[in-house]
Formats: sequence, structure tokens, C-alpha cells
Amino acid sequence: MKKNIKGVILAGGTGSRLFPITKVFSKQLLPVYNKPMILLSLGLMVSIGIEEILIIVTKRDLILFKRLLGNGKEYNCKITYKVQLKPAGIAQAITLAKSHFTSNKILLMLGDNFLFGSNLKNVILDAMSSAKGASIFTYKVKSPERYGVLNIKNNKIKNIVEKPKKPTSNKAIPGIYIYDQKSINYVKNLKPSNRGELEITDLNNLYLKKNDLEIFHLGDGIIWMDMGTFDSYLEASQFIAATEKRQGFEIYDFKKNEV
Ligand code: G1P
Repeated sequence: MKKNIKGVILAGGTGSRLFPITKVFSKQLLPVYNKPMILLSLGLMVSIGIEEILIIVTKRDLILFKRLLGNGKEYNCKITYKVQLKPAGIAQAITLAKSHFTSNKILLMLGDNFLFGSNLKNVILDAMSSAKGASIFTYKVKSPERYGVLNIKNNKIKNIVEKPKKPTSNKAIPGIYIYDQKSINYVKNLKPSNRGELEITDLNNLYLKKNDLEIFHLGDGIIWMDMGTFDSYLEASQFIAATEKRQGFEIYDFKKNEV
């Protein structure tokens, strides 16, 4: 089953929250301790057995990604690229990945998200075999305002709210999603948000409304970080450095063929 699921990593976008360091090249190529950021999402995908991965990049940075990743051989997978001409939102990536859908689902990851930890692989594999059309994950955070967040009332999930000012739960939605082919049509009906983007949260709400969304919790023992701000970027580097030095191994080590 998992062999048929293809991966999509979104590495377009302007990275404006990290200006000026992302002014000349992509955020997802910045070093996170000892490797370019993109290798963290790629490493996770390869570790769960995904063999074909599409990377969505800006026109400006295509040449750099190709120089780093090539056709993926060195990273134990097959990599292809698509250019996103404008940063029109995460949900637009679905449209770009259209040809990538086979009869199965896709696993979409934001290239600035870092996920690692015990049991992570199993939770994702479970989500990949869900009978529902889409699967998303939750992760308990102290400050959910920066993310898509589960809106819970009377113990019931009402919907997902993008960056709520007053979150009703501490369950944020990490940038890793699984969608079936219906998403291609759903995305066509989405309207751009206030920030001018097709929001992944709107797509997830569509699936939720149709009772076609399964939500998996990423519990203790798993670390999730986004690396889109100066602090979270630094913290991810520090976490990786501390873990690797303490335990004497490399997180998502492609050389070992067992990332
Ligand atoms: C995006 C999504 C948000 C999600 C987050 C994870 O936010 O819109 O729902 O929780 O990624 O990193 P953005 O980074 O585009 O602000």
C-alpha cells in the first residue's frame, strides 16, 4: 500500500518571515545544524517508505534544489520538480501535484516542518491506510495561535481555525497531510483567504464537513517544529545538534540507508 503513496514537499513561498536571510534563496535550503532544511522532510518521507517525491519550488530556486537533490538517487528515492510561479498557498500545491496522484493518496509536507521521534513512523503509516479521504495530525502546543488549530466545543471538534486569536484548544495542526484525489476538485472551490492564499485549513474543513477526515494525534516522544521564524529555526537547529551529540547518531542520515 504505502508504495503507491507518493510524497509532495512544498518548498515554494517567499519565506518573508525570515527576511533578509531568505532574500536570495529558499528557506528550505537554509542549513539546520548539519543539513539543508529540505532533507528533514525528505528524510521523513524516505524513512516511511515513500519512493517517489515531488518537490514544489520557486522558479528562482529550481536550479539550486536540482543541484542539491538531483533525481533523488543519492537520497534513496525518485525526485521530480514542479515550479510554483506565485506563492498562492499550500492548497494550490494539490493542483500542481495533480499528475502525481495515482489511484492512491498523496502525503503532502511543508518543507519547513520538522518531525521526528519514536512511533512517528507508525502513526503516519496508520494515517496512510485510513479509510477516510484525508488524514491530518494534531500536536499539543503552548501557543497554538501561530497555526491551524482544532476548534473544540463541548468536547466536539467543530472545525479547524487558521491562526485563531482565541484558540479553543491547544491542538495545532502540523504541516503534514494525506489527501485522496477528491482534493483536486475541492481545491477548485476554495477562495483565497485574507492573506491571498488558498488555505490548507479550508481544504481540511471541507473534508471534515463531509465526515471524510481522520485526525491522528502525535503524542509525547515526538517533536514537531516549524522553522518559519527566527526562533523556531534556531530551536530546530539546537534540538538536532543536542540530540545527535548526546546520542551519537545523525537524524535522517541518508548515508546509512536507514533514515
Ligand atoms: C501553515 C498552515 C497552518 C499549519 C502550519 C504548520 O501555516 O496554514 O495551518 O498549522 O503551516 O507549520 P503558515 O506557515 O503558512 O503560516
